[in-house]
Amino acid sequence: MSKASALPAWQALRTQTKQTASVSLATLFDSESDRQARMSLTLDGLEVDFSRTHLTAETVALFLELAKAQELEAWREKMFTGAKINTSENRAVLHTALRAQDDTPLMIDGQNVIPALRAMQAKAAAFVSAVRDGKHLGATGQKITDIVNIGIGGSDLGPRLVAGALQKAGAGPRVHFIANVDAAESTLTLAPLNPATTLFVIVSKTFTTQETLLNARTARSWLIAALGEAATAKHFVAVSTNREAVEAFGIDATNMFEMWDWVGGRYSVWSAVGLSVALAIGWEGFSSFLAGAAAMDQHFRTAPLAQNMPVLMAMTGLFYRNFRNAGAIAILPYSEQLRNLPRFLQQLDMESNGKSVTREGEAVDYATGPIIFGECGSVGQHSFHQWLHQGTDVIPVDFIGVRHDAWHKPEHHAVLLAHMKAQAEALKSGRGNADPARANPGNKPSTMIWLDTLDPYSLGLLLALYEHKVFCQGILWGINSFDQFGVELGKKLASEILEKQ
Ligand code: F6P
Repeated sequence: MSKASALPAWQALRTQTKQTASVSLATLFDSESDRQARMSLTLDGLEVDFSRTHLTAETVALFLELAKAQELEAWREKMFTGAKINTSENRAVLHTALRAQDDTPLMIDGQNVIPALRAMQAKAAAFVSAVRDGKHLGATGQKITDIVNIGIGGSDLGPRLVAGALQKAGAGPRVHFIANVDAAESTLTLAPLNPATTLFVIVSKTFTTQETLLNARTARSWLIAALGEAATAKHFVAVSTNREAVEAFGIDATNMFEMWDWVGGRYSVWSAVGLSVALAIGWEGFSSFLAGAAAMDQHFRTAPLAQNMPVLMAMTGLFYRNFRNAGAIAILPYSEQLRNLPRFLQQLDMESNGKSVTREGEAVDYATGPIIFGECGSVGQHSFHQWLHQGTDVIPVDFIGVRHDAWHKPEHHAVLLAHMKAQAEALKSGRGNADPARANPGNKPSTMIWLDTLDPYSLGLLLALYEHKVFCQGILWGINSFDQFGVELGKKLASEILEKQ
């Protein structure tokens, strides 16, 4: 496979994007009265509006040629059918199987993975009901009121985002998260909790992650100090691929929920890694979250590329990253409940596409994954938006808004959404001023993503959309989005430093 930059489509994109560099968003809107309608795609209450980007039909056509040359559709099929597309680790990439709505067999190394998956889901569903219905009680016979998820990276960010977005006060146990090995997080999280009514979910795919294991030991000591050693059986469960390490930690295999090496950490919230979410919202809600993602999978797998949401998002990303020199993307959810979305997407995107060699090990000569950062609107408007409006960098923005006023506070909702629309308009159109210091140049790109409501189904749609966007970008760049060897050196050096102390 040749490098993306050597392909005729890439070179044609380079020429075309240079030739059209001076075409502004205002010109594009003026020349196409139906631009917004034509460039908006919807699926089950999720809308993505690409009209405020500089994409034209011609650019999309060239990107479609690039997708063809990079065999995007063939790679997509390989992913969905369990081929080992994580070539450096010789692993399948099958997070889509976790949300499959039927039992069509999926074979890895001659074995159908669906029966083991359904068995895990049945075990998790039963456990979730038992905890929520008060059948699984703490060691002193009291109902579980608080869940503490201990994990880091993909074993934390997904559950933290989803539980934070969907948990309703008083409708199930409260969920807390400990990720940082800084004792501040565990100490402050545990201080108000009652050991007798607290359940720990230790989440680690490998069960070797130092920070997680140390936090888990600290939690166990806290529990044992209050209730004695025998209590751990009722207060600790684990999610992992590593049964031996879970047992060595002192958690019985009956209290372990299995995951598999074909689920990447940052793609794992759909697996038993989402147990804390299911405990918070119930199994029905969690199933709806999976169903939303499955609907996006279906769209991604079947919609023509030119009308395919993740594909167009990926193309938009490459357009600005590779042909307009944009080093970052701002993720701006106008929803307090989605406050952890930027952090979640940071791992999803930057750990996946922060690579500088192709799948074949050749150095790339083009930019790959950008910086992902962000903050909730309208809060971010009062910190870094100045830079978006008048700074020297081009920063494409993803605005995420929710149409339904879940809090029944119309005044707040109207102000929130007015600000989101105003930001998109200010970026797009700007406003001149005789004083250059006061002028907003405009012509700055953004994508508007709208959810009708923020519920498990729509959140499933949204997260799967971003997963597939990241996948498509990895394929277009010719890199492996599914390993993360760059993080290993730091882990090794930390162990060496600790050994010397
Ligand atoms: O160090 C990076 C990483 O391996 C991530 O990819 C992963 O999500 C995180 O650590 C946690 O890993 P584990 O679930 O094995 O504890």
